[in-house]
Amino acid sequence: MIIEFVHRKYAEIRCDLLAYPLFEDEPEGAPAVVALDKATGGVVRAVHSSGEFKPKLHSTCLIHGPRGLKANRLLLLGAGKKQELNLARWRDLAGAAARSAKLAACKTVAFAARSEARLEDLARVCSEGALIGNYDSDLYKTREKESRELERFLILDLKGRAPGSAQEAIRRGTTVGDAVNLARNLGNEPANVLTPASFAEKCLSAGAKAGLDVEVLERGDMEKLGMNTLLAVARGSDEPPKLIILRIKGQRRRKGAPLYALLGKGVTFDSGGISIKPAEKMEDMKADMAGAAAVLGTMVSLAQLRPSQQVMGLIPAVENLPSGKASKPGDVVKTLLGKTVEIINTDAEGRLILADTIAYARSIGATHLIDIATLTGACVVALGMVYAGMMGTDQKLMDRLRKNCGTTGEKLWQLPLDDDYRKAIQSEIADIKNVGNRWAGAITAGKFLQEFAEDTPWVHIDIAGVDMDHDGRPFAAKGATGFGVRTLTQLFLRG
Ligand code: BES
Ligand code: ZN
Ligand code: ZN
Repeated sequence: MIIEFVHRKYAEIRCDLLAYPLFEDEPEGAPAVVALDKATGGVVRAVHSSGEFKPKLHSTCLIHGPRGLKANRLLLLGAGKKQELNLARWRDLAGAAARSAKLAACKTVAFAARSEARLEDLARVCSEGALIGNYDSDLYKTREKESRELERFLILDLKGRAPGSAQEAIRRGTTVGDAVNLARNLGNEPANVLTPASFAEKCLSAGAKAGLDVEVLERGDMEKLGMNTLLAVARGSDEPPKLIILRIKGQRRRKGAPLYALLGKGVTFDSGGISIKPAEKMEDMKADMAGAAAVLGTMVSLAQLRPSQQVMGLIPAVENLPSGKASKPGDVVKTLLGKTVEIINTDAEGRLILADTIAYARSIGATHLIDIATLTGACVVALGMVYAGMMGTDQKLMDRLRKNCGTTGEKLWQLPLDDDYRKAIQSEIADIKNVGNRWAGAITAGKFLQEFAEDTPWVHIDIAGVDMDHDGRPFAAKGATGFGVRTLTQLFLRG
């Protein structure tokens, strides 16, 4: 899809659909509304007064062949309350415009960006939104697709502002939007296609295109290093585990400067292992690598956008299955760090693979750690499908992450990582066990990881509730969301 920034009068734009956002708290007599009404021969007033359309957030009204416009259709798009507008909302509005146009079989769409925000920010988030809205999860449908892709998305500035660096902003937005869709594609792939080995292959191909150096540690390497918790999870599967390390080409290690490591849980299928999960909804566990997908997406976008800080990505990729070789409840293993773990429940496998990955990241020089993982059902119970859980030992970093939520639209809620939660994972036989009691499961998982981060500043993001959208939104298709790509990319880029 081609995305362009245009500042011409909307009445003159030739396109299949012109999307025009209207605000809930905008009086009918507001100059912009009156002008649109005049330009269209009174349709705006008509649909308002008939009660057909109220500008509630993401409500729509499609008008065919509007008189006075060169556009074939006019889409009135509810934009909610003006005072609630932020960049995240503009992204979603652009996305809703793109998605509505696509569902109406349109090819070219113009979006009236009626915003006071900086042009660069606006062009960037609208580009992201357009790409996200244009994506569909029907990877393996052989019918009823095609001819539905949008070809051109025009961002209209109605304020007559000079385009300035809009072009660069569109490039950045396109890079991030494509990276989000890359992560969504991976999350939507079934586990018979996306195995640890094929995940590594995807990293190699996407990395080569974007400018990443990709290193893959094999089972033998992990055995030599002593990554026994990662290996303990992989034991039950015939698919060999991979530890994928992503570095930005040409980014040289500066001694003394911080080196951030992004760690993503890459369980390509989580059956629970011997502590097997119930059959209902087990298919969703194909997306238990959403953290890994977010790390790959982020590294792909950062490689193109060149952050000033040093960042690397680490992805432990495994499949968690029961078999005659699988780890059993009660097994004790020694981690890379040297601490011993009693595996009480083989379904708490994410923390096991992350424990060794955290230790490994520190051993190769990481000074700051951020892990992202579909880690606990308990986090979904606590925060539902709206907020991701966040906890850690680096308050400054968590504050920075949270400050960006109004721009990224990815909501993060901090949970307490109090030391009193640690006793739930005290083991009788080993240094620590991999599950606690019934309570505060998201936090006890975090306490487990903290044992391996030790004094290295670390943040953990639990995306178990937000990695998948089962209902679909006006601005995005059902399925994997790519949550985390925008949060982690934004952290390293200004603006
Ligand atoms: N992958 C799951 C967590 C999950 C649950 C992700 C729901 C997405 C949606 C994780 O490996 C898991 O099974 N965790 C267990 C931990 C428990 C055994 C302590 C859980 O949350 O039930
Ligand atoms: Zn599990
Ligand atoms: Zn899991």
